Amino acid sequence: MKLPVYLYGHPVLRKVSEPLLATDDDIKKLIADMFDAMYESEGVGLAAPQIGRNIRLVVIDADPVSDTFAECAGRKFALINPEIEILEGEKISRPEGCLSLPGISENVPRVEHIRLRWLDEDFKPHEEEISGFLARIVQHECDHLEGKMFIDHISAIRKQLIKGKLNSIVSGRINVDYPVRFAPTAKRGR
Ligand code: NI
Repeated sequence: MKLPVYLYGHPVLRKVSEPLLATDDDIKKLIADMFDAMYESEGVGLAAPQIGRNIRLVVIDADPVSDTFAECAGRKFALINPEIEILEGEKISRPEGCLSLPGISENVPRVEHIRLRWLDEDFKPHEEEISGFLARIVQHECDHLEGKMFIDHISAIRKQLIKGKLNSIVSGRINVDYPVRFAPTAKRGR
């Protein structure tokens, strides 16, 4: 069975996640299961808090959007304990969505160039400069490890305008076509 994606309103999405101290077969299995859950829900990135685990682990496969964003071609990787260094201050706004916020898409300002350091599933260190939409995906997913979501970057007015949608997610009054887990307070069961 596919891992369910935890939805907005669940407290696990608002906690700061802990670094991984080592990798093992369980972590490698978790990475494979996270890729499965991501593909099932047609996402291009998934962070461990979104499957209920507060550890610093992210999976990304950006290839499906490479027709629009060439820098995403063939970019599939798991990031353990990722660290972002901002290389350019100017922010550009583009629409983002999130598997934990089904049905919501908002323009989010982010920088276009970052330096990323991470460990792969064998705990081998990597460092790379990343740009464009791939840099956006990485920033979005790494936000999850800090307990942040993309709606934290939008204006108070925009947030007011989507309040009804947010309440529907929190209370479980939506239908989602991939396995999900609602907040413990939702009227609808898990
Ligand atoms: Ni997300």
